Amino acid sequence: MSKSQVQEDSSLDPNWRNDALDLGLDYGMQTIAVRAGQHRTDEGEHSEPIFTTSSYVYHSAADAAAHFDGTKTGNVYSRHTNPSVRTFERRLAALENGARAVATASGMGAILTMCLAYLKAGDHLLAANQLFGSSIGLFNNYMAKFDVEVSYVDCFDNEAWANAVQPNTKVIYCESPSNPLAQICDIGYLSELCKANDILLVVDNCFATPALQRPLDLGADVVIHSATKYLDGQGRVLGGALVGSDKLMQEAFTVVRSGGISMSPFNAWVFTKGLETLKLRMQAHCQNANQVAEFLVNHPKVSTVHFSGLSDHPSHNLATRQHHMKGGYGAIMGFEVKSSASLDSKAAAWHVIDSTQMVSITNNLGDAKTTVTHPATTTHFRLTPEARAEAGVKDGLIRLSVGLEDVEDIIKDLARGLDSL
Ligand SMILES: Cc1ncc(COP(=O)(O)O)c(C=O)c1O
Repeated sequence: MSKSQVQEDSSLDPNWRNDALDLGLDYGMQTIAVRAGQHRTDEGEHSEPIFTTSSYVYHSAADAAAHFDGTKTGNVYSRHTNPSVRTFERRLAALENGARAVATASGMGAILTMCLAYLKAGDHLLAANQLFGSSIGLFNNYMAKFDVEVSYVDCFDNEAWANAVQPNTKVIYCESPSNPLAQICDIGYLSELCKANDILLVVDNCFATPALQRPLDLGADVVIHSATKYLDGQGRVLGGALVGSDKLMQEAFTVVRSGGISMSPFNAWVFTKGLETLKLRMQAHCQNANQVAEFLVNHPKVSTVHFSGLSDHPSHNLATRQHHMKGGYGAIMGFEVKSSASLDSKAAAWHVIDSTQMVSITNNLGDAKTTVTHPATTTHFRLTPEARAEAGVKDGLIRLSVGLEDVEDIIKDLARGLDSL
């Protein structure tokens, strides 16, 4: 973290107080993860406290008025700011190498905030065709309702991105790796394209996390998180965040404050503590995932494994370049199960899922517990068949979020169904 990232901009909303622990020097990522953003109270607590309060008191009526007219900085209401939420925002901003973060009630809350802050009627949103189902739903069903034009391109096809840019394109949006096929976008290329056309590049970094990849360093303008995933890491609470420049975050902050998309202090505290172990957890997740992918790719009943950690994956070199953690390709993968004489591809996928005994059948991901999902009938179920096909979600596709159990046990659990197909 460089010192400049924690200095206050006087043009910022006065309720964004820059009173957090300023490490003052360049520290390593793990030190930042453990220490950045903490604001110690006069009680001298060592660990970060949870500020469960909805409002704040003033010394006098004049003091209250000064907080509202901006002559005094400080908290006024927890829909606007809260010390526990601020600690999480500051720590995440430092880890993503951004000037500032804005926390939201969920990952979808962050994506909605992005839309409301940076798009207006008549604008065009250009998105990757590989996205979490609810993001596609939000764009297609709601942004279209407010006259925002939306179109999609193959996320790895740089020429297609360039050809799809229109004069009214204001945001390019992608996930890298993507949900559920773990495809990789060339963030550096997209950044150049955006700069040349005055477009904002927004990257959902939920699958990689700053432990593996920092999109802002690669040229993105805004990073999106579903903190619900790896930032928590144990599947306990919902939350989201945006990270970027002071100016862009100020625009996002006013949307969150006005729209009430705010994060709860308890959830912020869970995420703050989650960040302390993020890098260590991601290292272990990635090691397990690399071994599970090797098992799957060699299994005769698996037709395709979507995982950039495999050396013959078309995006392997790009992912190696973009991810700063050596050997870290994330721990989410999609794999397609072959149909048999008696089972079509959906039935075969369900058989593999239903044959697990330890792995959790659930739609969340980024958890210490390995989770398995059938996207076509769950996370991407609400999409039209055409939108599902466009997102590459086939009936035989299984999404796996590799957890922190002993890798031999994960492999044994998956082998049970695959071997009996
Ligand atoms: C890549 C990605 N982005 C955003 C979200 C939405 O996050 P949340 O469920 O916290 O709203 C998800 C949820 O699965 C996701 O996978």
